[in-house]
Amino acid sequence: MDKIVVEGGVALRGTVQVSGAKNAALPILAASLLAEGDHAVSNVPDLADVRTLGRLLGHLGCEVARDAAGRKVGLRVPATVKPEAPYELVRTMRASVLVLGPLVARWGRARVSLPGGCAIGARPIDQHLKGLAALGATIHLEHGYVEATAPAGGRLRGAVFTFDGQTVTGTENVMMAAALAEGETVLENCAREPEVADLAAALRGMGARIEGAGTGQIRVHGVEALRPLSHDVIPDRIEAGTFLVAGALPGNDVFVKGCVPEHLEVLVEKLRAVGAVVSAQPGGLRVVGDGRPRPVDLRTAPHPGFPTDMQAQMMVLLCLAAGTSKIVETVFENRYMHVQELLRLGADIAVDGKTAVVKGVPALSGAQVMASDLRASAALVLAGLAAQGSTEIQRVYHLDRGYEHIEEKLAPLGARIRRVKA
Ligand code: EPZ
Repeated sequence: MDKIVVEGGVALRGTVQVSGAKNAALPILAASLLAEGDHAVSNVPDLADVRTLGRLLGHLGCEVARDAAGRKVGLRVPATVKPEAPYELVRTMRASVLVLGPLVARWGRARVSLPGGCAIGARPIDQHLKGLAALGATIHLEHGYVEATAPAGGRLRGAVFTFDGQTVTGTENVMMAAALAEGETVLENCAREPEVADLAAALRGMGARIEGAGTGQIRVHGVEALRPLSHDVIPDRIEAGTFLVAGALPGNDVFVKGCVPEHLEVLVEKLRAVGAVVSAQPGGLRVVGDGRPRPVDLRTAPHPGFPTDMQAQMMVLLCLAAGTSKIVETVFENRYMHVQELLRLGADIAVDGKTAVVKGVPALSGAQVMASDLRASAALVLAGLAAQGSTEIQRVYHLDRGYEHIEEKLAPLGARIRRVKA
Protein backbone atom coordinates (compact mmCIF):
# COMPACT_ATOMS: atom_id res chain seq x y z
CA MET A 1 0.00 0.00 0.00
CA ASP A 2 1.26 3.44 -0.94
CA LYS A 3 2.28 5.80 1.80
CA ILE A 4 2.99 9.50 1.85
CA VAL A 5 6.06 11.03 3.48
CA VAL A 6 6.08 14.69 4.51
CA GLU A 7 9.10 16.68 5.72
CA GLY A 8 7.48 19.41 7.79
CA GLY A 9 8.36 22.92 8.84
CA VAL A 10 8.56 24.44 5.33
CA ALA A 11 6.56 27.61 4.58
CA LEU A 12 3.98 27.15 1.83
CA ARG A 13 3.73 29.85 -0.85
CA GLY A 14 1.83 30.04 -4.11
CA THR A 15 -1.31 29.01 -5.94
CA VAL A 16 -3.21 25.72 -5.84
CA GLN A 17 -6.03 24.85 -8.25
CA VAL A 18 -9.20 23.24 -6.96
CA SER A 19 -10.73 20.27 -8.83
CA GLY A 20 -14.38 19.44 -9.44
CA ALA A 21 -16.45 18.36 -6.44
CA LYS A 22 -16.47 14.62 -5.66
CA ASN A 23 -19.77 14.92 -3.80
CA ALA A 24 -21.43 16.64 -6.76
CA ALA A 25 -19.86 14.48 -9.49
CA LEU A 26 -21.06 11.21 -7.91
CA PRO A 27 -24.83 12.00 -7.82
CA ILE A 28 -24.63 13.75 -11.20
CA LEU A 29 -23.04 10.71 -12.85
CA ALA A 30 -25.71 8.51 -11.22
CA ALA A 31 -28.39 10.84 -12.60
CA SER A 32 -27.37 9.81 -16.12
CA LEU A 33 -29.39 6.62 -15.52
CA LEU A 34 -32.55 8.77 -15.74
CA ALA A 35 -32.21 9.21 -19.51
CA GLU A 36 -31.20 7.03 -22.44
CA GLY A 37 -28.47 8.42 -24.71
CA ASP A 38 -25.08 10.14 -24.69
CA HIS A 39 -24.30 12.20 -21.62
CA ALA A 40 -21.40 14.60 -21.07
CA VAL A 41 -20.16 15.72 -17.65
CA SER A 42 -17.15 18.01 -17.34
CA ASN A 43 -14.89 19.19 -14.49
CA VAL A 44 -15.10 15.66 -13.05
CA PRO A 45 -12.28 14.98 -10.56
CA ASP A 46 -9.97 12.04 -11.29
CA LEU A 47 -10.61 10.12 -8.06
CA ALA A 48 -10.91 6.50 -6.95
CA ASP A 49 -14.56 7.03 -5.94
CA VAL A 50 -15.45 8.41 -9.37
CA ARG A 51 -13.80 5.42 -11.03
CA THR A 52 -15.75 3.09 -8.72
CA LEU A 53 -19.02 4.70 -9.81
CA GLY A 54 -17.89 4.38 -13.41
CA ARG A 55 -17.40 0.65 -12.88
CA LEU A 56 -20.86 0.36 -11.32
CA LEU A 57 -22.47 2.20 -14.26
CA GLY A 58 -20.53 -0.08 -16.59
CA HIS A 59 -21.87 -3.09 -14.67
CA LEU A 60 -25.41 -1.75 -15.18
CA GLY A 61 -24.82 -1.69 -18.94
CA CYS A 62 -23.60 1.87 -19.57
CA GLU A 63 -20.50 2.78 -21.58
CA VAL A 64 -18.25 5.14 -19.65
CA ALA A 65 -15.33 7.04 -21.20
CA ARG A 66 -12.96 9.76 -20.00
CA ASP A 67 -11.09 12.29 -22.12
CA ALA A 68 -7.31 12.31 -22.07
CA ALA A 69 -7.15 14.95 -19.30
CA GLY A 70 -9.59 12.82 -17.32
CA ARG A 71 -11.90 15.78 -16.57
CA LYS A 72 -14.66 15.03 -19.07
CA VAL A 73 -16.73 11.91 -18.70
CA GLY A 74 -18.89 10.63 -21.54
CA LEU A 75 -21.63 8.12 -20.69
CA ARG A 76 -23.80 6.15 -23.08
CA VAL A 77 -26.91 4.90 -21.28
CA PRO A 78 -28.76 2.16 -23.20
CA ALA A 79 -32.52 1.70 -23.58
CA THR A 80 -32.44 -1.14 -21.04
CA VAL A 81 -30.12 -1.77 -18.10
CA LYS A 82 -29.83 -4.55 -15.56
CA PRO A 83 -31.02 -2.58 -12.50
CA GLU A 84 -28.80 -4.36 -9.99
CA ALA A 85 -25.88 -2.91 -7.98
CA PRO A 86 -23.87 -5.78 -6.48
CA TYR A 87 -22.30 -5.93 -3.02
CA GLU A 88 -18.78 -6.16 -4.49
CA LEU A 89 -19.09 -2.62 -5.91
CA VAL A 90 -21.32 -1.00 -3.30
CA ARG A 91 -19.19 -2.15 -0.36
CA THR A 92 -16.19 -0.18 -1.70
CA MET A 93 -18.18 3.04 -1.87
CA ARG A 94 -21.40 3.83 0.03
CA ALA A 95 -22.33 6.58 -2.43
CA SER A 96 -23.16 3.77 -4.89
CA VAL A 97 -26.57 3.85 -3.23
CA LEU A 98 -27.21 6.93 -5.41
CA VAL A 99 -28.19 4.64 -8.30
CA LEU A 100 -31.23 3.40 -6.34
CA GLY A 101 -33.54 6.40 -6.95
CA PRO A 102 -32.76 6.75 -10.68
CA LEU A 103 -33.10 2.97 -11.31
CA VAL A 104 -36.50 2.55 -9.65
CA ALA A 105 -37.79 5.81 -11.20
CA ARG A 106 -36.65 4.93 -14.73
CA TRP A 107 -37.04 1.15 -14.81
CA GLY A 108 -39.68 0.56 -12.14
CA ARG A 109 -37.40 -1.69 -10.10
CA ALA A 110 -33.95 -1.80 -8.56
CA ARG A 111 -31.89 -4.25 -6.52
CA VAL A 112 -29.08 -2.48 -4.72
CA SER A 113 -26.78 -3.87 -2.08
CA LEU A 114 -27.16 -2.23 1.30
CA PRO A 115 -24.01 -0.23 2.02
CA GLY A 116 -22.19 -1.81 4.98
CA GLY A 117 -20.79 -0.03 8.03
CA CYS A 118 -18.36 2.88 7.80
CA ALA A 119 -15.44 4.07 9.93
CA ILE A 120 -17.14 7.38 10.76
CA GLY A 121 -20.56 6.09 11.76
CA ALA A 122 -23.43 3.64 11.26
CA ARG A 123 -24.74 5.65 8.31
CA PRO A 124 -28.12 3.96 7.74
CA ILE A 125 -30.15 4.73 4.58
CA ASP A 126 -33.61 4.56 6.19
CA GLN A 127 -34.45 8.08 4.99
CA HIS A 128 -33.63 7.18 1.38
CA LEU A 129 -35.99 4.21 1.62
CA LYS A 130 -38.75 6.12 3.44
CA GLY A 131 -38.61 8.83 0.77
CA LEU A 132 -38.86 6.32 -2.10
CA ALA A 133 -41.71 4.54 -0.31
CA ALA A 134 -43.53 7.88 -0.05
CA LEU A 135 -43.28 8.07 -3.85
CA GLY A 136 -45.04 4.73 -4.03
CA ALA A 137 -42.12 2.31 -4.19
CA THR A 138 -42.43 -1.02 -2.41
CA ILE A 139 -39.23 -1.67 -0.43
CA HIS A 140 -37.97 -5.11 0.59
CA LEU A 141 -34.71 -5.80 2.39
CA GLU A 142 -33.49 -9.30 1.57
CA HIS A 143 -30.09 -11.02 1.74
CA GLY A 144 -28.33 -7.70 2.26
CA TYR A 145 -30.07 -6.08 -0.69
CA VAL A 146 -32.74 -3.41 -1.09
CA GLU A 147 -35.40 -4.44 -3.59
CA ALA A 148 -37.40 -1.39 -4.66
CA THR A 149 -40.38 -1.75 -7.00
CA ALA A 150 -42.57 0.97 -8.44
CA PRO A 151 -46.36 0.65 -8.41
CA ALA A 152 -48.03 -1.34 -11.18
CA GLY A 153 -47.57 0.48 -14.44
CA GLY A 154 -44.02 1.17 -13.44
CA ARG A 155 -44.11 4.90 -12.57
CA LEU A 156 -43.54 6.47 -9.15
CA ARG A 157 -46.04 9.12 -8.08
CA GLY A 158 -45.50 12.55 -6.53
CA ALA A 159 -45.97 13.03 -2.79
CA VAL A 160 -45.18 15.29 0.16
CA PHE A 161 -42.32 13.88 2.24
CA THR A 162 -40.43 15.26 5.23
CA PHE A 163 -36.99 13.88 6.04
CA ASP A 164 -36.61 13.03 9.74
CA GLY A 165 -33.07 14.38 9.59
CA GLN A 166 -31.13 16.28 6.89
CA THR A 167 -29.38 13.80 4.65
CA VAL A 168 -27.32 14.81 1.62
CA THR A 169 -27.46 11.65 -0.50
CA GLY A 170 -30.96 10.91 0.82
CA THR A 171 -32.20 14.23 -0.54
CA GLU A 172 -30.35 13.59 -3.81
CA ASN A 173 -31.75 10.05 -4.25
CA VAL A 174 -35.38 11.05 -3.65
CA MET A 175 -35.09 14.24 -5.72
CA MET A 176 -33.76 12.22 -8.69
CA ALA A 177 -36.62 9.71 -8.35
CA ALA A 178 -39.21 12.48 -8.11
CA ALA A 179 -37.96 13.99 -11.38
CA LEU A 180 -39.66 11.14 -13.32
CA ALA A 181 -42.59 10.59 -10.96
CA GLU A 182 -46.16 11.33 -11.90
CA GLY A 183 -47.29 14.68 -10.46
CA GLU A 184 -45.72 16.99 -7.91
CA THR A 185 -43.41 16.10 -5.04
CA VAL A 186 -42.66 18.41 -2.11
CA LEU A 187 -39.64 17.46 -0.01
CA GLU A 188 -39.24 19.09 3.40
CA ASN A 189 -36.25 19.29 5.75
CA CYS A 190 -33.91 18.71 2.82
CA ALA A 191 -30.14 18.92 2.92
CA ARG A 192 -28.98 22.35 1.61
CA GLU A 193 -25.46 21.47 0.56
CA PRO A 194 -24.19 23.16 -2.64
CA GLU A 195 -23.78 19.67 -4.13
CA VAL A 196 -27.56 19.13 -3.84
CA ALA A 197 -28.13 22.40 -5.71
CA ASP A 198 -25.58 21.40 -8.36
CA LEU A 199 -27.37 18.08 -8.91
CA ALA A 200 -30.67 19.95 -9.28
CA ALA A 201 -29.06 22.26 -11.87
CA ALA A 202 -27.81 19.21 -13.80
CA LEU A 203 -31.31 17.65 -13.66
CA ARG A 204 -32.91 20.89 -14.89
CA GLY A 205 -30.44 20.75 -17.78
CA MET A 206 -31.96 17.33 -18.54
CA GLY A 207 -35.45 18.85 -18.59
CA ALA A 208 -36.44 18.24 -14.97
CA ARG A 209 -38.70 20.77 -13.21
CA ILE A 210 -37.16 21.42 -9.80
CA GLU A 211 -37.40 24.45 -7.50
CA GLY A 212 -35.87 25.23 -4.13
CA ALA A 213 -32.73 23.04 -4.18
CA GLY A 214 -30.25 24.51 -1.73
CA THR A 215 -33.09 25.37 0.66
CA GLY A 216 -35.00 23.18 3.16
CA GLN A 217 -37.94 22.69 0.75
CA ILE A 218 -37.59 21.22 -2.73
CA ARG A 219 -40.55 21.10 -5.15
CA VAL A 220 -40.37 18.69 -8.13
CA HIS A 221 -42.91 18.53 -10.95
CA GLY A 222 -42.40 15.07 -12.44
CA VAL A 223 -41.97 14.72 -16.21
CA GLU A 224 -42.45 11.77 -18.59
CA ALA A 225 -38.90 11.70 -19.87
CA LEU A 226 -35.54 13.44 -19.55
CA ARG A 227 -32.79 14.17 -22.05
CA PRO A 228 -29.07 13.38 -21.60
CA LEU A 229 -26.86 15.35 -19.26
CA SER A 230 -24.57 18.14 -20.32
CA HIS A 231 -23.12 19.63 -17.14
CA ASP A 232 -20.03 21.22 -15.62
CA VAL A 233 -19.48 20.12 -11.99
CA ILE A 234 -18.94 22.80 -9.29
CA PRO A 235 -15.53 23.15 -7.61
CA ASP A 236 -14.83 20.97 -4.55
CA ARG A 237 -15.39 23.13 -1.44
CA ILE A 238 -13.92 20.50 0.88
CA GLU A 239 -10.72 20.17 -1.16
CA ALA A 240 -10.61 23.99 -1.25
CA GLY A 241 -11.22 24.12 2.50
CA THR A 242 -8.38 21.68 3.09
CA PHE A 243 -5.99 23.94 1.14
CA LEU A 244 -7.31 27.01 3.00
CA VAL A 245 -6.39 25.36 6.30
CA ALA A 246 -2.95 24.54 4.87
CA GLY A 247 -2.54 28.23 4.04
CA ALA A 248 -3.68 29.26 7.54
CA LEU A 249 -0.93 27.21 9.21
CA PRO A 250 1.65 29.62 10.71
CA GLY A 251 3.95 31.25 8.16
CA ASN A 252 2.04 30.16 5.03
CA ASP A 253 0.56 32.22 2.20
CA VAL A 254 -1.61 30.34 -0.31
CA PHE A 255 -4.02 31.34 -3.07
CA VAL A 256 -6.77 28.73 -3.54
CA LYS A 257 -7.79 29.10 -7.17
CA GLY A 258 -11.17 28.13 -8.55
CA CYS A 259 -13.08 27.82 -5.24
CA VAL A 260 -16.51 29.46 -4.68
CA PRO A 261 -16.28 31.76 -1.62
CA GLU A 262 -20.06 31.53 -0.97
CA HIS A 263 -19.64 27.78 -0.40
CA LEU A 264 -16.99 28.38 2.27
CA GLU A 265 -18.43 31.20 4.40
CA VAL A 266 -18.52 29.47 7.79
CA LEU A 267 -15.03 28.02 7.33
CA VAL A 268 -13.62 31.42 6.33
CA GLU A 269 -15.30 32.94 9.39
CA LYS A 270 -13.56 30.39 11.64
CA LEU A 271 -10.19 30.86 9.92
CA ARG A 272 -10.45 34.61 10.50
CA ALA A 273 -11.38 33.96 14.15
CA VAL A 274 -8.21 31.87 14.46
CA GLY A 275 -6.27 34.91 13.17
CA ALA A 276 -5.60 33.93 9.56
CA VAL A 277 -5.92 36.67 6.97
CA VAL A 278 -8.40 35.52 4.32
CA SER A 279 -9.14 37.73 1.32
CA ALA A 280 -11.30 37.24 -1.75
CA GLN A 281 -9.26 37.74 -4.89
CA PRO A 282 -10.26 37.33 -8.54
CA GLY A 283 -10.84 33.63 -9.11
CA GLY A 284 -10.49 32.45 -5.54
CA LEU A 285 -9.42 33.04 -1.95
CA ARG A 286 -6.01 33.97 -0.54
CA VAL A 287 -5.10 32.91 2.99
CA VAL A 288 -2.13 33.95 5.09
CA GLY A 289 -1.24 32.17 8.34
CA ASP A 290 -0.38 35.15 10.50
CA GLY A 291 1.48 33.86 13.56
CA ARG A 292 0.28 31.41 16.17
CA PRO A 293 -3.42 30.58 15.76
CA ARG A 294 -5.94 31.70 18.36
CA PRO A 295 -8.22 29.02 19.90
CA VAL A 296 -11.83 28.85 18.67
CA ASP A 297 -14.78 26.61 19.41
CA LEU A 298 -16.70 24.95 16.61
CA ARG A 299 -19.70 22.70 16.16
CA THR A 300 -20.27 20.74 12.97
CA ALA A 301 -23.72 20.90 11.38
CA PRO A 302 -25.45 20.39 8.01
CA HIS A 303 -24.87 23.20 5.48
CA PRO A 304 -24.72 26.16 5.94
CA GLY A 305 -23.26 25.05 9.31
CA PHE A 306 -19.59 24.10 9.79
CA PRO A 307 -18.97 21.08 7.51
CA THR A 308 -18.18 17.80 9.26
CA ASP A 309 -15.87 17.07 6.30
CA MET A 310 -13.62 19.93 7.51
CA GLN A 311 -13.61 19.01 11.21
CA ALA A 312 -10.41 16.92 11.20
CA GLN A 313 -8.46 19.42 9.10
CA MET A 314 -9.53 22.33 11.32
CA MET A 315 -8.54 20.32 14.41
CA VAL A 316 -4.94 20.28 13.15
CA LEU A 317 -4.82 24.08 13.08
CA LEU A 318 -6.28 24.22 16.60
CA CYS A 319 -3.64 21.76 17.82
CA LEU A 320 -1.15 24.65 17.37
CA ALA A 321 -3.31 27.38 18.94
CA ALA A 322 -2.30 29.54 21.88
CA GLY A 323 -5.01 28.13 24.15
CA THR A 324 -7.84 25.59 24.34
CA SER A 325 -10.55 24.97 21.73
CA LYS A 326 -13.70 22.84 21.91
CA ILE A 327 -15.00 20.90 18.91
CA VAL A 328 -18.45 19.26 18.88
CA GLU A 329 -19.08 16.72 16.10
CA THR A 330 -22.88 16.50 15.65
CA VAL A 331 -23.23 14.84 12.23
CA PHE A 332 -21.37 11.53 12.60
CA GLU A 333 -21.05 9.55 15.80
CA ASN A 334 -17.53 8.23 15.26
CA ARG A 335 -15.53 10.94 13.50
CA TYR A 336 -12.54 11.31 15.81
CA MET A 337 -10.42 8.46 14.47
CA HIS A 338 -7.70 10.99 13.58
CA VAL A 339 -7.26 12.03 17.23
CA GLN A 340 -5.16 9.00 18.22
CA GLU A 341 -2.86 9.68 15.27
CA LEU A 342 -2.56 13.41 16.10
CA LEU A 343 -1.59 12.44 19.66
CA ARG A 344 1.28 10.47 18.11
CA LEU A 345 2.44 13.79 16.57
CA GLY A 346 2.47 15.41 20.02
CA ALA A 347 -0.99 17.01 20.06
CA ASP A 348 -2.97 17.36 23.30
CA ILE A 349 -6.60 16.32 22.68
CA ALA A 350 -9.20 14.75 24.97
CA VAL A 351 -12.36 13.23 23.49
CA ASP A 352 -15.56 12.72 25.45
CA GLY A 353 -18.42 11.50 23.30
CA LYS A 354 -19.20 14.17 20.66
CA THR A 355 -16.78 16.67 22.19
CA ALA A 356 -13.06 17.05 21.64
CA VAL A 357 -11.09 19.47 23.81
CA VAL A 358 -7.93 20.58 21.99
CA LYS A 359 -5.20 22.14 24.11
CA GLY A 360 -2.82 23.97 21.79
CA VAL A 361 0.85 22.97 21.82
CA PRO A 362 3.79 25.08 20.54
CA ALA A 363 4.77 22.48 17.93
CA LEU A 364 4.04 19.03 16.52
CA SER A 365 6.74 16.47 15.83
CA GLY A 366 6.77 14.09 12.87
CA ALA A 367 5.93 10.37 13.34
CA GLN A 368 4.49 7.32 11.56
CA VAL A 369 0.70 7.53 11.45
CA MET A 370 -2.21 5.61 9.91
CA ALA A 371 -5.12 7.05 7.91
CA SER A 372 -8.57 5.74 8.92
CA ASP A 373 -10.87 7.60 6.53
CA LEU A 374 -10.78 10.20 3.78
CA ARG A 375 -10.82 13.46 5.76
CA ALA A 376 -8.73 12.05 8.61
CA SER A 377 -6.01 11.30 6.06
CA ALA A 378 -6.14 14.88 4.76
CA ALA A 379 -5.72 16.11 8.34
CA LEU A 380 -2.64 13.91 8.78
CA VAL A 381 -1.09 15.44 5.65
CA LEU A 382 -1.69 18.94 7.07
CA ALA A 383 -0.25 17.90 10.44
CA GLY A 384 2.80 16.49 8.67
CA LEU A 385 3.29 19.81 6.84
CA ALA A 386 3.21 21.68 10.17
CA ALA A 387 5.25 19.18 12.21
CA GLN A 388 8.99 19.26 12.75
CA GLY A 389 10.76 16.36 11.09
CA SER A 390 9.33 13.60 8.96
CA THR A 391 5.78 12.18 9.03
CA GLU A 392 4.89 8.94 7.27
CA ILE A 393 1.20 8.39 6.51
CA GLN A 394 0.04 4.88 5.75
CA ARG A 395 -3.15 3.64 4.04
CA VAL A 396 -3.30 6.67 1.76
CA TYR A 397 -5.83 4.88 -0.42
CA HIS A 398 -8.30 6.73 1.79
CA LEU A 399 -6.84 10.03 0.53
CA ASP A 400 -7.05 9.06 -3.12
CA ARG A 401 -10.77 8.57 -2.77
CA GLY A 402 -11.31 12.31 -2.43
CA TYR A 403 -8.12 14.22 -3.29
CA GLU A 404 -6.71 14.34 -6.79
CA HIS A 405 -2.91 13.71 -6.53
CA ILE A 406 -2.64 15.86 -3.38
CA GLU A 407 1.13 15.57 -3.22
CA GLU A 408 1.43 16.92 -6.79
CA LYS A 409 -0.78 19.86 -5.82
CA LEU A 410 1.13 20.71 -2.62
CA ALA A 411 4.70 20.27 -3.91
CA PRO A 412 4.61 23.46 -6.11
CA LEU A 413 3.77 25.39 -2.92
CA GLY A 414 7.11 24.27 -1.53
CA ALA A 415 5.84 21.28 0.45
CA ARG A 416 8.36 18.49 0.84
CA ILE A 417 5.91 15.68 0.24
CA ARG A 418 6.21 12.47 -1.75
CA ARG A 419 4.34 9.26 -2.36
CA VAL A 420 6.17 6.04 -1.70
CA LYS A 421 4.76 3.32 -3.88
CA ALA A 422 4.16 -0.05 -2.21
C1 EPZ B 1 -22.64 13.03 2.40
O1 EPZ B 1 -22.77 11.71 2.96
C2 EPZ B 1 -21.20 13.14 1.92
N1 EPZ B 1 -20.94 12.11 0.93
C3 EPZ B 1 -20.25 12.97 3.10
O2 EPZ B 1 -18.93 13.20 2.66
C4 EPZ B 1 -20.57 14.02 4.16
O3 EPZ B 1 -19.79 13.78 5.30
C5 EPZ B 1 -22.05 13.93 4.55
O4 EPZ B 1 -22.89 14.04 3.39
C6 EPZ B 1 -22.45 15.05 5.51
O5 EPZ B 1 -22.16 16.29 4.99
C7 EPZ B 1 -21.40 12.30 -0.34
O6 EPZ B 1 -22.05 13.28 -0.68
C8 EPZ B 1 -21.09 11.22 -1.33
P1 EPZ B 1 -25.89 12.20 5.33
P2 EPZ B 1 -24.20 11.12 3.32
O7 EPZ B 1 -26.88 11.24 4.80
O8 EPZ B 1 -25.22 11.64 2.37
C9 EPZ B 1 -27.72 10.11 9.18
C10 EPZ B 1 -16.63 12.82 2.38
O9 EPZ B 1 -15.73 12.90 3.21
N2 EPZ B 1 -28.62 9.41 8.24
O10 EPZ B 1 -26.11 13.63 5.11
O11 EPZ B 1 -24.05 9.66 3.46
C11 EPZ B 1 -26.25 9.68 9.00
O12 EPZ B 1 -25.96 8.50 9.68
C12 EPZ B 1 -17.95 12.15 2.78
O13 EPZ B 1 -16.58 13.27 1.22
C13 EPZ B 1 -29.62 8.61 8.74
O14 EPZ B 1 -29.75 8.44 9.95
O15 EPZ B 1 -24.45 11.77 4.76
C14 EPZ B 1 -25.51 10.90 9.52
O16 EPZ B 1 -25.40 10.81 10.91
C15 EPZ B 1 -17.89 11.48 4.10
N3 EPZ B 1 -30.44 8.00 7.86
C16 EPZ B 1 -26.43 12.05 9.12
O17 EPZ B 1 -27.72 11.49 8.88
C17 EPZ B 1 -30.33 8.16 6.50
O18 EPZ B 1 -31.11 7.58 5.73
C18 EPZ B 1 -25.98 12.81 7.88
O19 EPZ B 1 -25.69 11.88 6.88
C19 EPZ B 1 -29.30 8.99 6.01
C20 EPZ B 1 -28.46 9.61 6.90
